[in-house]
This record gives sequence, structure tokens and C-alpha cells, in this order.
Amino acid sequence: MGVLDYDELRRKPVEELTREEAAKELERLAKEIAEHDYHYYVENAPVITDAEYDALRRRNEAIEARFPDLIRPDSPSRRVGAPPAAGFRKVKHAVPMLSLANAFDPQDVYDWDRRIRRFLGLSADEKIVFTAEPKFDGLSISLRYEKGELVLAATRGDGYEGEDVTANARTIADIPQRLKGADVPEVFEIRGEVYMPISAFMKLNEEQQKKGEKPFANPRNAAAGSLRQLDPSITAQRPLRFYAWGRGEVSEMPVQTEWELYDCYRRWGVPVSDLLELHESVDALIDYHERMLEKRPDLDFDIDGVVYKVNRFDWQGRLGFVQRNPRWAIAHKFPAHRGITVLQDIQIHVGRTGALTPVGILEPVNIGGVIVSRVSLHNEDYIKGIGADGQPIRDGKDIRIGDTVVVERAGDVIPQIVDVILEKRPPDSRPYQFPDHCPVCGSKAVREFNPRTGKLDSVRRCTGGLYCPAQVVERLKHFVSKRAFDIEGLGEKAIEQFFDHKFIRTPADIFTLEERERKGEICIHCLEGWGEKKIENLFRAIDARRHIALDRFIYALGIRHVGEVTSRILARHFRTIEAFIEGMRQIGKDRDCPVAQEIDNIDGLGPVVVEALHNFFNEAHNWEVIDQLLKEVTVEAEEVPAESSPLAGKTVVFTGALSTMTRDEAKDIVERLGGHAAGSVSRKTDLVVAGPGAGSKLKKAQELGIKIISEEEFLQLVGLKKG
Ligand code: IVH
Repeated sequence: MGVLDYDELRRKPVEELTREEAAKELERLAKEIAEHDYHYYVENAPVITDAEYDALRRRNEAIEARFPDLIRPDSPSRRVGAPPAAGFRKVKHAVPMLSLANAFDPQDVYDWDRRIRRFLGLSADEKIVFTAEPKFDGLSISLRYEKGELVLAATRGDGYEGEDVTANARTIADIPQRLKGADVPEVFEIRGEVYMPISAFMKLNEEQQKKGEKPFANPRNAAAGSLRQLDPSITAQRPLRFYAWGRGEVSEMPVQTEWELYDCYRRWGVPVSDLLELHESVDALIDYHERMLEKRPDLDFDIDGVVYKVNRFDWQGRLGFVQRNPRWAIAHKFPAHRGITVLQDIQIHVGRTGALTPVGILEPVNIGGVIVSRVSLHNEDYIKGIGADGQPIRDGKDIRIGDTVVVERAGDVIPQIVDVILEKRPPDSRPYQFPDHCPVCGSKAVREFNPRTGKLDSVRRCTGGLYCPAQVVERLKHFVSKRAFDIEGLGEKAIEQFFDHKFIRTPADIFTLEERERKGEICIHCLEGWGEKKIENLFRAIDARRHIALDRFIYALGIRHVGEVTSRILARHFRTIEAFIEGMRQIGKDRDCPVAQEIDNIDGLGPVVVEALHNFFNEAHNWEVIDQLLKEVTVEAEEVPAESSPLAGKTVVFTGALSTMTRDEAKDIVERLGGHAAGSVSRKTDLVVAGPGAGSKLKKAQELGIKIISEEEFLQLVGLKKG
């Protein structure tokens, strides 16, 4: 893709994109938007804000406008929403259920008015009558009436094909089973929004929580989840409501305008919002928008903007559609909910992996009906006003304790600080100093250097892995796990139980359990589920691990970036625990010492491992834990493979099925003989052991002319089978 990487490309202004870059971007946007559509429409669980989603769509549209011949067949501009989920019968919409273009500020509405006039050939002073109404934040539904009887209710789906939810829709009291009045046409599809009142949503969530079930994120998700229940009796228990906002297939239209149609709906017994108004100028529409924004907190249903439509149907017909949007209507969106409050404190939470996460504590503030008292502050760069991409955010303003801040709550997303009001900053405030020590255990907290990006990680981590109470339970679980100390009878649950009762806090405590139980200092047999036999078995299992191989010992320490393979390489390099400890003392003190350089040079290791070892062994708390542990266990030296070993220094790859041993065993054999078992074939591979079902690795080995042998030949080679 030339010099631009993916992240840079997605930020490049549309007008600067080359043709090739535009094609790449359209491909990415089609994929990303489809994924978000799926989260939104099928899972009812969006993962980005509406504003972010709109930005993706707008970028897609702008690129398509510049390069119309690059429009993809799967372009988001040709689709609405996501395909229907399994479970409901699919139904084709007689008239597609399309969506609205958005206006974000008054200028967008003036531009819309101008486009309409140009299209219809109207002068600037000719009157256009518009309807103005709320944009309901629910889910759209199409209700098909034949001879006045409800025969089909369908969700929007992808706009062309939705789901048949007739049985569920019949349980909604607002939706008439039959239309009233003598003037109902033969076929009439009423379109509108199913929603859940906010008060009902709150009550439902309380009940969900009482039942131990997951609460819904917002009324729209609750409405969607309720309507799309496969069992209509569940839908019937949910307080769903309906407002009409449009029409689909119609056999004959009894009226000439949108406004008159709403009148028909009222007469036919279909609910229509009483916030509907008629206006004759854009200024009046903008005024409506402002009034609705003020009214919004008092409404018992969510609205995310207002909708303006050209009232006359004949003009609507002439204006028609552009791609998936009518030219005759536009949604004027509301800004996300915002509130102003004071940041009282910044607290640092330490996660189970040692990440330090800052949380802003706010003077509680009501933002769009939700009380917000905490905000995520992500990481220290974010507090400084630098985004993950290195660009300034909030105009580069930093966040300080005592600041007056603007907090935004958009949809389901965790509230964010979007601005700092500098005029209100206390004169004695100072930039926030992110701690460089863990607030839980006092160990150093560091930002790792990421050699791939050439930048510091945005996350600061506590280095007191074995010591830090916030992390220690996870570390202990790792310590006793199968590939580490592998202590039978001491699983994750037992670790949690013993930790909760303060029987173990560091790995060494595991090895003194028996003695302390005997002396009566702790009481394992007082715990539920711990009978005498089980305790005895546990103690024997612990004893069995008082001798441990060096590679397992290293792996058990749970050092970042030091997994099983790295542990094995390190063990083979240092051979004895004494040499390892000495090496680590040096690397802990100085990341550029000769040992560090040695490790950096080992095949399969590198600067990331060196950095991780330095950070871990630089921390005095970790040494305390290791010293204690070494009083309890004996670490065996790595056997020196016979010089004459047929595999010494060789790289071996296994592929296909093995019949007499597991993959792990086979790798173990190679490594005991001084070889290296690798996962993939390359020019460095010396030998490939191929069994039945071997595929691409075998092919590659053949291409590279690497020696290939069978499992049986391998066993003969290593002396496990007579030739
Ligand atoms: S009119 C051709 N009016 O918003 C589409 N839509 O983004 C005409 N919506 O799919 C749509 N309130 O689900 C219209 N008062 C309203 C609306 C409304 C909510 C939803 C509807 C539509 C989406 C458009």
C-alpha cells in the first residue's frame, strides 16, 4: 500500500486520497460498517457511538462522491441495517424500508432546503410546507393491513428483507388489530417505531436485576430485545408502545399530504405523536429543533433528533430518493447528552493484569436522565490531552483535579470528558501527576516500550506481579497451573478459597501450608469441602513439586512476555538456577548489561523479553518472593545434552498426526536432546517429522528440500526404537 500504514490511511483527508488508497478505504469501510450494523441491528448491542458510526458512513459517502466508479457492490450506501437474524420467517418488503439522511447543524438544514428548491425549480421565496416531528429512538416496524385487518408485521432487517414478527406485534396494545373507519384502503402499510417508555424501561431493569438477569443498556435495546423474542408471551409482558411515522405499500392514497395522512391515522385508531407541527420556513424548523431539545428530558420516551418532511405527496414523489435516503425528508440530530460538573478526584485502579487505570470521580450530575458520577480517563496520555494516535484531543487540554469539565454520554458508551472549561480552572491547580508506583503495593509501575510501534505503551503496569495484592490471585493460579508447578488438588477455586482466608499470599506460602496447619496457625479442615483425606492428598501433591525443572520454575513466575517457549530457551541458556538468578540480578540492575545483550542475541528472544526481565527483576518486592520460594523448593539443573546427540542444535518441525506420543512429548524429546522444536517450516528447519494428514508444512519442506522422516524413523533416530 505504499508508505501509508492502515492507521494513517483511515485519518487521511478524503480529498488527498489517491485512487488506490480510496479503493482500500472503501473496502475497509464496507467491512467495518457491516460489522457495526450487525452489532446494532442483530445483536442490539452497538460498540461505537452513533456519532462515530455516522462519521464512518459520511467518510464512505465522501469517498464514493469523489470516485463514483469505485463504489462497491457491497457498499454500505446500498444497504440499510443488517440481514435478518435466524429464528423468524423472512419477509420481503413491498416498498423498501429506507433511512434518512442526517443534518447535524442548522447549515445542513438550509442546504437541504436549497437542494429541494433547485430540484423542484422553486424560487427562494416560494412557500414549502414542512412537517416537523420527533425522531423516535426505537425500532422501526412495518404493519400491513388488508381490508383493515392486520396481516403482517415485519422488522426493517436490511431494508429490503425483514423478519415476520406478527405474533409479537399483536401483543402490543397500541397496534390496532383492525383499523377503524370506512375510508381505509384495500391495502395499507403503516410504518412507525416500536419503543419502550423510559419509566417502563427502568422498572423492567429493576426486575431483571432482581431475577439475576442482565439489565438492558437502554430503552431501545430493551424494546428490540422484547420485540424479537421467539416466544410472543414474553413480548406480551413487556410494556412496548408504538408511534406511526410513515407508510409503505398503499393501494390508493386517500389524501394529498403527510399532515392529512396523520389525521387519517388518528381516525383509524393508530397512535400519532402530539408533538407533530407544520412549518413554512427553515428558521421555524430550527426553532422546533431547539424547543424539542429542551423538552427532551421531560419526555417518557427517547428521541435522538427531529425529522422534517416535505408535506406535499406530489412533491415527495418528484423529489424521490438518493441511494437509500428520501430527498424529501431529513433527520436533524440532537447532540449527544452533555453535562457540566467538577472533577473531584482521580483514582487509580489496578487490574488483575497489573494495568493502572485512572477513573475520574465527578460531582454527581444528571445527564439526560442518568446520574453520572464516574468517568473513564483511559490512561495517562489521555489525561494529558493526547489521543491513542498521538494527536491532541480536547484541543490538547489536560485534565486536572478541581477542573470544571464537560461530560458527554452518547448512547450506551461510558461517559467521557469532552472538554475542560479553562476559565473555571482553580488558579493553584497543577497538571495531574500520574503515579509511577502502584497505589496498591508500592512496586514500580512502568510503561513498556513497544519496538513494533517504536512508542511507549499507553498503559502503565505494576511490576510487582508476584507481590501485588491486586494481581496476586491471578499469579497464584498461574503458578500452580498445569504447565507451571502443576500442583494436583490446588486448582483455581482452592487458590481463591485459600487466598480469601489469608492462608496463602505468595507462592512460598503454598509450601508451608502443611507445617502451619500442623501448628494450628491456619485451619484448612475448617473450610467447607476439605476433609482429612483431601488435605493429605494436597500436602503430598505439594511435596511432589518441591523439586522442579528450571524451565517450569521460570514460567511459573508469570513474567510478562515470558511464556513457556521463552522459559525453555532461558532455562537451556542458563542451565542452573544459580546462573539464572545471577543473570537476573544483573539484568534487573542494568538493562544494557552483557547478560542482557546475550539474551537479546538468542534466537527466539529479543528486546521485548529483555525489557520484561529488566522490569520484573528490578523490583525488590519480586526478589523477596523468589528468595522465600527458593527456601522451599529445589530447582533442578537442565541436563546437558550429549554432544553426540543426533538432534543437538537442530530445528525440528512436527506435522500431521503422531501415533505413539503426543506433540508435547515429541517436542520434549527434541529439546532434551539439545534440539529446538519449531511450529513452522522455514529455511532454518533441519528436519521435518511428517505423519498422516500432513499438509502445507510438508509441502513447504519438500519445496525447500528439507529432510523429511516418519514418526518411526524419528523414534529410531532418538534411540527409542530399534532399527
Ligand atoms: S421517516 C424513508 N420519521 O429513523 C424513511 N423515521 O433513519 C422515512 N424514525 O428508519 C423515515 N422516528 O426507524 C421517520 N418521525 C420519524 C422517525 C423515523 C424515528 C426512524 C425510522 C427510520 C429511521 C431513519
